[in-house]
Amino acid sequence: MSTSRRILRLRVNGQPREVLARDADTLLDVLREQLGLTGSKRGCDLGTCGCCTVQIDGEPQLACLTLAAEVGEREVTTVEALRDGEEFAPLQQAWAAAGASQCGFCTPGFLMTTDWLLREKPDCNREQMREALAGNLCRCTGYVKILDAVERCTRSQGACPSEK
Ligand code: FES
Ligand code: FES
Repeated sequence: MSTSRRILRLRVNGQPREVLARDADTLLDVLREQLGLTGSKRGCDLGTCGCCTVQIDGEPQLACLTLAAEVGEREVTTVEALRDGEEFAPLQQAWAAAGASQCGFCTPGFLMTTDWLLREKPDCNREQMREALAGNLCRCTGYVKILDAVERCTRSQGACPSEK
């Protein structure tokens, strides 16, 4: 396997970024180790836990299974971009209000999938939430409070983040 590095030009959270990456480096490697964006978590590194979920061109993707060299000019969005300055996003506030985080390790991945879901289906029901979030695993909460948090942000509850 080649260990030489080359310059990659990425777009991350609305900014052009340059990194030095090996062909085998994943997007998660680059985000965490080169760009200091440690919100995306390394859980399994195998594509099974969802802790590393980011959005690429608005769609949830597993950063641990995405080669950095294949991202190209597509827009990468990480959990760090949800927050608006000093303010937590409505989705993050809903997570806190519902008690949907315990250890919090899974939370960034859930937030990134949920942010997408609420744009796609602002009136999603619990079944649609479960289906969309099936790839995000949580060891702590039992999921009910997570669904409660998502429900707080549906359009019918008046707090949909996509309408802020
Ligand atoms: S770290 Fe990527 S799916 Fe678990
Ligand atoms: S809050 Fe601990 S893994 Fe989800």
